[in-house]
Amino acid sequence: MDLGFSDKVVFITGGGHGIGRAFALNFAAEGAAVAIAELDAQRAAATVGDIKEQGGKAVALPCDVSDREQVQAAVSQTLAEYGQLDILINNAVSPNLTGSLEELEDLDWDHNFDVNVKGSFYCFRAVAPYMKERRYGKVVSMASIVGRRGSAEPTSAAYSASKAGIIGLTATMARELGPYNINVNAIAPGSINTPRWRDARNEAQIDRTIQGTALKRLGEAEDIVGMALMLASDHASFITGQVVTIDGGMLCM
Ligand SMILES: NC(=O)c1ccc[n+]([C@@H]2O[C@H](COP(=O)([O-])OP(=O)(O)OC[C@H]3O[C@@H](n4cnc5c(N)ncnc54)[C@H](O)[C@@H]3O)[C@@H](O)[C@H]2O)c1
Repeated sequence: MDLGFSDKVVFITGGGHGIGRAFALNFAAEGAAVAIAELDAQRAAATVGDIKEQGGKAVALPCDVSDREQVQAAVSQTLAEYGQLDILINNAVSPNLTGSLEELEDLDWDHNFDVNVKGSFYCFRAVAPYMKERRYGKVVSMASIVGRRGSAEPTSAAYSASKAGIIGLTATMARELGPYNINVNAIAPGSINTPRWRDARNEAQIDRTIQGTALKRLGEAEDIVGMALMLASDHASFITGQVVTIDGGMLCM
């Protein structure tokens, strides 16, 4: 199926690692020009290098999404480089993943909200005027099932509350931007086997997680990619305000 990305530009936050890197490689393979707005310059450069090696188009933009001016600058650089911006993927995430109520520092709480929620809001605010003017745009944000059911082990009220924030942001942005032909959706993954996820757990926790899925396995970054591509394409033109769960059957257990 042709996803129609050969004349599209996608702006991916945190596109240098894990699921974001998989997004970047696959959007590029489908013909999109990719802008990677990433805190870690080395990761961004490595992903851009891999895309270029495969004959794709990509640019690395140093950016901390929790800084409004850096987000605005990265969006402006994308427009200067490619002349357009069609798709926003809000994927960057604070690395401060864990902590019980007693352990969580105010700083952890703030960092989760600054990067995950405010960072996504800054990206919306930076791209919206341009997308509204063109009456075209697609946004896919990374939520999580823990934004719906809370996190089990390791626990983190800050992370799960921030992911619930993404779900609320998605619904409101879908309503606000829908009249301008801008589709806004989110993906809520279950447990995806990225280094960030694995490093936060021991073997017993990983095994319990696997047993808690209907498919009896962890997800891989590639398991998320297809839905992101679809939601960002014109094949999903009448889908907006949705949160698509991709969890190998966790919520149904
Ligand atoms: N891995 C999972 O199991 C899982 C489950 C549910 C949801 N998600 C969501 O999927 C997304 C990707 O997760 P992942 O596991 O691939 O994460 P990851 O940690 O592997 O990658 C995140 C990337 O974001 C970058 N980043 C961090 N802070 C940033 C900032 N302030 N500005 C710009 N970039 C920044 C990091 O450098 C990194 O490259 C996240 O939004 C996460 O919440 C992941």
